Amino acid sequence: MHEPNHIRINLPDEAATTDFAARLAATLQPGLVIYLRGDLGAGKTTLVRGMLNALGYTGRVKSPTYTLIEQYDLAELKLRHFDLYRFRDPEEWEAAGFRDEFNGCNICVVEWPEQAAQLLPSADLEIIFTILPDGRTLDIFANTDKAKQCLTALPV
Ligand SMILES: Nc1ncnc2c1ncn2[C@@H]1O[C@H](COP(=O)(O)OP(=O)(O)O)[C@@H](O)[C@H]1O
Ligand SMILES: [Mg+2]
Repeated sequence: MHEPNHIRINLPDEAATTDFAARLAATLQPGLVIYLRGDLGAGKTTLVRGMLNALGYTGRVKSPTYTLIEQYDLAELKLRHFDLYRFRDPEEWEAAGFRDEFNGCNICVVEWPEQAAQLLPSADLEIIFTILPDGRTLDIFANTDKAKQCLTALPV
């Protein structure tokens, strides 16, 4: 079966982002690494919040702007939310134990992956957010078979 490696989605408002987040959450597999790229305010954290809420997490989803990581151990999966906007020190990568979080089991969602460049494991799924006058466009690239299965499984 042909599986797509790129799809483009238009999200006219925040509710559309939350709705898409729930659809994406339904396709997640253990060990998936997802990069989120796009300007400040593009909706990266909103997407992660929407995924966690769809997975049943009822607590507050804070942006890991200062902590660099927030950890969510849910009943059916473990998700790690990184925001590397303020990441500067490569030595901190090992010291903080970030490498250990990419263990093939945790789902790792990374905002500002470019800040950690070659330290970071490569992405299965890459989502590029573009800010439009009216809403957002998401370009979603699947780099691995696992990620292609996610795109194929996305409910419409
Ligand atoms: N599809 C959308 N269209 C318009 N505004 C959106 C959309 N999705 C999210 N937003 C808004 O854009 C902002 C995104 O903030 P945030 O998710 O923190 O961005 P980032 O993490 O990329 O810096 C929020 O104010 C949110 O309400
Ligand atoms: Mg953010």
